[in-house]
Amino acid sequence: MLILILGHQLPVAGITSNNDNMHEFKYKENKLYCENMEVRDLAEKFGTPLYVYSYKTLTDHFLKLKTAFRQVSPLICYSVKANSNLAILKALVDKGAGLDIVSGGELFRALIAGCPAERIVYASVGKTVKEIEEAIKKGILLFNVESLPELENINRVAKKLNKITKVAIRINPDVEAHTHHFITTGKITNKFGIDLSNATKILSLRRKLLNVNICGLHMHIGSQITKGAPFVQALKKVISFTIALKKDGVKLEFLNMGGGLGIIYDKETPQTAQEFAQKVLPLLKKINLKIIFEPGRFIAGNAGILVTKVLYIKNTPVRKFIIVDAGMNDLIRPALYGAYHNIIPLEGIGEGIGKVEKADVVGPICESGDFLAKERLLPCVEEGDYLAVMSSGAYGFSMSSNYNSRRKATEIMVRKDRARVIRRRDTYQDMVRNEII
Ligand code: LLP
Repeated sequence: MLILILGHQLPVAGITSNNDNMHEFKYKENKLYCENMEVRDLAEKFGTPLYVYSYKTLTDHFLKLKTAFRQVSPLICYSVKANSNLAILKALVDKGAGLDIVSGGELFRALIAGCPAERIVYASVGKTVKEIEEAIKKGILLFNVESLPELENINRVAKKLNKITKVAIRINPDVEAHTHHFITTGKITNKFGIDLSNATKILSLRRKLLNVNICGLHMHIGSQITKGAPFVQALKKVISFTIALKKDGVKLEFLNMGGGLGIIYDKETPQTAQEFAQKVLPLLKKINLKIIFEPGRFIAGNAGILVTKVLYIKNTPVRKFIIVDAGMNDLIRPALYGAYHNIIPLEGIGEGIGKVEKADVVGPICESGDFLAKERLLPCVEEGDYLAVMSSGAYGFSMSSNYNSRRKATEIMVRKDRARVIRRRDTYQDMVRNEII
């Protein structure tokens, strides 16, 4: 679907995609809806900046992956870091998801959201003794181990607790994921995982480490990967390694493929879950291991938008600035990675009918890096209009901060014709609660 403005075709985030099921943010008679609720009504009722999530989009993406891989019935551990709101976690856990965590804080959230401990996997290069201890006590499924000292530490903690805990070795397969260099994790120059030769050495120590059961391999090569080839390349290496290990008598139980599946923000043409499955299933069937996935963005990315209000229009001799009430503290991806998020009006064509203009969409924060879009062709908007920043469900709110002492945004979940606040906007009191004069 395209909105036609004066001969320019203004793409509407994702709705332009060949995949019409991509999300539930659609124009009906020129008004943007989330499922059955008009987004403008939501903005007026709950105020802006406002994160709006679609329950259907969220759970559909989980189910798409589950269905595509049903032949190997994987454990899909949603990556909490993408969007850690308890209501989001609960919605997915209720559909059968496990959770991928990276800190004691995420473990705390996962358990409050009702995730059974045996569906939790724990990655991170810097797990502390206290975090390891809590995770063992709660009985999580697996630690994804990123170095020998960490493995020795887990062994020590488990011994102290008189437990034997399961671990997977995170392999760094040294492949190029063809994504932003900040979110590439499977190159040998990255801090993540263990190269194959060190992994072999570590595995040879397994009989000495009596309180860990090394029973799996893990990989995660990066994020927003739109093609299948890097996954296939990495998987081939990891699978050959499991086969070699089996010959040496090392029996494994799990293969965790990590996350990283890319979504449509702009003109990307990522593989669908089905296409991805077609590429990797033949490889997965070669081994008889329980498959784990850790997708974050694929599930939450297109399930959320950030709604913001236009505060001022500022024209300078060289630029037009649309100053909005959401800033880099609400959505840091454009500032941090130069990431593209489509921005669309809540009323399809609205006041500026017939006109589009190039403008920078900027926030109120005192940094030149505080922008949501640069030199973007947008329909003419006026003060008081609302804009939707699309595909903000993953790494949006979860990376937000109180910078400039701005209150974190309200988050709401829409399910059919009901909208529910799933996080209240911070109060000023919330922001100073832990401070001491
Ligand atoms: N597993 C591990 C071990 C990870 O480190 C990550 C993400 C995931 C799974 C989930 O990856 P996903 O399926 O969401 O691609 N803030 C960045 C993305 C950082 C990703 C960090 N690790 C962004 O906004 O693009």
